[in-house]
Amino acid sequence: MNLILLGPPGAGKGTQAKRLEQRFGLRQLSTGDMLRALVAGGSALGREAKAVMDAGQLVSDDIMIRMISERIDQPDCASGFILDGFPRTVPQAEALDHMLEEKGLKLDAVIEMQVDDGALAERVAGRFTCANCGAGYHEKFQRPKVEGVCDVCSGTEFVRRSDDTIETVSKRLAAYHEQTAPILPYYREHGVLKAVDGMADIDSVARQTAGILEGAGS
Ligand code: AP5
Ligand code: MG
Ligand code: ZN
Repeated sequence: MNLILLGPPGAGKGTQAKRLEQRFGLRQLSTGDMLRALVAGGSALGREAKAVMDAGQLVSDDIMIRMISERIDQPDCASGFILDGFPRTVPQAEALDHMLEEKGLKLDAVIEMQVDDGALAERVAGRFTCANCGAGYHEKFQRPKVEGVCDVCSGTEFVRRSDDTIETVSKRLAAYHEQTAPILPYYREHGVLKAVDGMADIDSVARQTAGILEGAGS
C-alpha cells in the first residue's frame, strides 16, 4: 500500500506517519527529514537547502523529485510507503505520477489532514524531538510519559527545528496555500483524495486514517 499524507506545517503528517509505519508495516518517507539529514551532512547542497528551509520556502522541484525517486527504489519501500511532505507542488505531483507508472507502482490513497490555520502555530511552537531516535513530542499535546525522558529510547536530549520560529512558520503556511494546496483538486479529480479531521486528538486522527486505509485495499 502506498499513500500520501498531505497537510500544512504542523498538521500532524509526521506524527501519523510514524503510527502508520507500525500499524501497517509501511515506510515513512519524509522529504523534510531527508533534507534535514542533508543539512546535517554539511555539504554545499545541504547549506543551500538550509537557507531555503529557514526562509520558509520550498526547495527546487528537480532536487526533490530526484530525491524521492531514488528513495522509493530502496528495498525497504517494497512493502509500501507513506509520502510525508511530498508532493508539494503541481509539478511534483505530476512527476510522482510518471515515476510511479515507470516503476509499476500505484497510489492507494491521498489523505488530506484538515487543520485550521489558527491551530498550527501552537502545534509547531510546542514541538520537540528526541535527539537520539527522532520520536516527536509536544509540550502540551504529547509529553513524554516520564518528564525529560524519551518514551521510545530513554534518551534525555531533545532538539527543536530551526524553521519552527513564528516568522518562518507563517511563511511556510503561505507557501502551503500558494504552492501545495493547488494539488488537492488534482487528486480529487483522480478520485483518490480522502480527508481526515486533523483538529481531533492524535489517537482519533489515527483511527480515522486507519479506517480509510482498511477500506483502500492492500
Ligand atoms: P517538513 O519537514 O515536511 O515540514 P512541514 O510540511 O512544514 O510539516 P511539519 O513537519 O512542520 O509538520 P507535520 O505535519 O509533520 O506535523 P507533526 O506531526 O510534527 O518540511 C520542512 C521544509 O523542508 C519545508 O518548509 C521546505 O523548505 C522543505 N521541503 C520538504 N519537503 C519538500 C518538498 N517536497 N518540496 C520542496 N521543499 C520541501 O506535528 C506537529 C506538532 O503537533 C508535534 O509536536 C505533534 O506532537 C503535535 N500534534 C500532531 N498531531 C496533533 C493533534 N492531532 N493534536 C494535537 N497536537 C498534535
Ligand atoms: Mg513533519
Ligand atoms: Zn528517543
